[in-house]
Amino acid sequence: MFRTKTCGELRIADIHNEVTLAGWVQTVRKFGSITFVDLRDRYGITQLLFSEALNDQLDANPLGREFVLQITGKVSERSNKNKNIPTGDIEILVDRFSILNKSITPPFTIQDETDGGDDLRMKYRFLDLRRNAVKKNLELRYAINRATRNYLHEQGFMDIETPFLIKSTPEGARDFVVPSRMNPGEFYALPQSPQTFKQLLMVSGYDRYYQIVKCFRDEDLRADRQPEFTQIDCEMAFVEQEDILNTFEGLVKHIFKAVKGIDYTEAVTRMSWEDAMWQYGNDKPDIRFGMQLLNIKAPAHVYVQKERNEALVAGAGFGVFDDAETVLAIAAPRCSEYTRKQTDELTEWVKRPQIGMKGLVFIKCNADGSFKSSVDKFYSEDRLKAIAEAAGAKPGDLILILAGAEERTRKAMSELRLEMGKRLGMRKDDEYRLLWVLDFPLFEYDEEGNRWVARHHPFTSPKPSDIDTMIGNNPKIENAATYLSHPYANIKANAYDMVLNGNEIGGGSIRIYQKELQQKMFEALGMDEQEQQHKFGFLLGAFEYGAPPHGGIAFGLDRVCAILGGSESIRDFIAFPKNNSGRDIMLDAPATIDDKQLDELQIKIDLK
Ligand code: AMO
Repeated sequence: MFRTKTCGELRIADIHNEVTLAGWVQTVRKFGSITFVDLRDRYGITQLLFSEALNDQLDANPLGREFVLQITGKVSERSNKNKNIPTGDIEILVDRFSILNKSITPPFTIQDETDGGDDLRMKYRFLDLRRNAVKKNLELRYAINRATRNYLHEQGFMDIETPFLIKSTPEGARDFVVPSRMNPGEFYALPQSPQTFKQLLMVSGYDRYYQIVKCFRDEDLRADRQPEFTQIDCEMAFVEQEDILNTFEGLVKHIFKAVKGIDYTEAVTRMSWEDAMWQYGNDKPDIRFGMQLLNIKAPAHVYVQKERNEALVAGAGFGVFDDAETVLAIAAPRCSEYTRKQTDELTEWVKRPQIGMKGLVFIKCNADGSFKSSVDKFYSEDRLKAIAEAAGAKPGDLILILAGAEERTRKAMSELRLEMGKRLGMRKDDEYRLLWVLDFPLFEYDEEGNRWVARHHPFTSPKPSDIDTMIGNNPKIENAATYLSHPYANIKANAYDMVLNGNEIGGGSIRIYQKELQQKMFEALGMDEQEQQHKFGFLLGAFEYGAPPHGGIAFGLDRVCAILGGSESIRDFIAFPKNNSGRDIMLDAPATIDDKQLDELQIKIDLK
């Protein structure tokens, strides 16, 4: 037996017992004639004491960092206790030891606070994974995984695997492709998600399916995106949207309870896509704090039903507002005493290329009830007061106003709101606010191609009240300027996203299950019958054999982990992640392949 105990489990109750431990040498410290060693394994760290009697053996077999060591000895009470670790009351008086394997000096220290930079740690990820901080993240991931499986099993879901070597699935990214040796010149695509398979499983009668599954998307990477990532992928038959929302709020609440001990008892907030965009400028709003947008101006063709507040700024001769398509304001609490330096810095912040605004207008709502603004010249105190009231500002607040083109200004205001929320400590790591965003538009206009594309994916159903509009019409879009008067512009989808603290953690929809409507959808996306057959003939065919009404959702497991783990980056929760250029630095992949492999595939590389 290599060990009788682990390095994390011995306590004061174990003293006088003889134990054998095996693990890695974290540190070696010599104190006069005795030597202390911290021995580490997955479970913790235990202090070892080598007495003078072992010095000859230690001299003959010196220990170094990361050596694999086996020791036998007696558990003893420590005189100098370490309250910071669970084993800190005891140490082992080593009786005999054996070096199971040596290690060369590691390239960085294997401790919570390491001296290794990102690239170095990625190159030696197997060493980085020994660090407690990384291990804790993988443990959290496993806990979320387990809680998910337990909940879905209890709910009658069945885990069914689906293939990786498939034909393109349209989730809006590029495919990773794999050449086929047996079918020269032909390629498989790796799934962007198991979307069509889970729908086929519904046709097959497996009415509650799930899978914790890798998905592959060739897209630009960010902190919350990896080229291969993991979904908790689910589908249900004979359900309506309400059933899905209830089942999967249940899942997320179960995860909260199981891994964080949080009782999330309140109902999950629901908001339409239109309200989210109108009130927060964003389809995944962080609702841990208010600071909602005051829509002063917005173009007539968007958010048609919403009320503007144009009179607040009109007729003052202030060109920046008068000429702008959109004018939006927020009230930042307790910021009226910002200095010139601070407001200048915020102005520079919105002028950065990522935000892209030309400037920022301020109204200080002073504590004494007076107002001071960067546009005093144009607006009387009464008018400033009216804006402040409409923005819900209190004395002591600072109103921030952006003006410009609709899309850019709304996005910029959303970013500014999030930034102010962060600076003002209103986005607390230990507070969790869930939100369903509902009623997304079914289509999105693609200006480059002058055509409609599916906002979620082409299998998402329109709201029942919009089906007639879809079936009856599809006039050609004249040009970019007129697409908003096209009948498809206002069709809403039976689609929903789950948002946690401003992050999209999941998305899904009620699906189309009738062949005719699915064909109509493909047609709306500009696919002729031949292309429909080539790409999705299997699905259209299956819909002819009794497809039940169905719908589903997929959660981004990596994102759920990152948020519950309090980190910005999903990489920290993936054992072997890729870097921002999609490379695995440890494996040095992607890489060229042998001529022999290319020959077998009958592929000749001729890079452009
Ligand atoms: P969707 O494309 O919205 O839906 O993906 C579902 C969830 O997966 C996560 N996600 C990602 N996580 C990390 N890296 C990525 N590159 C990445 N892309 C997406 C997000 C997202 O909410 N088949 C549909 C689901 C359905 O309709 O049932 C789908 O894949 O958290």
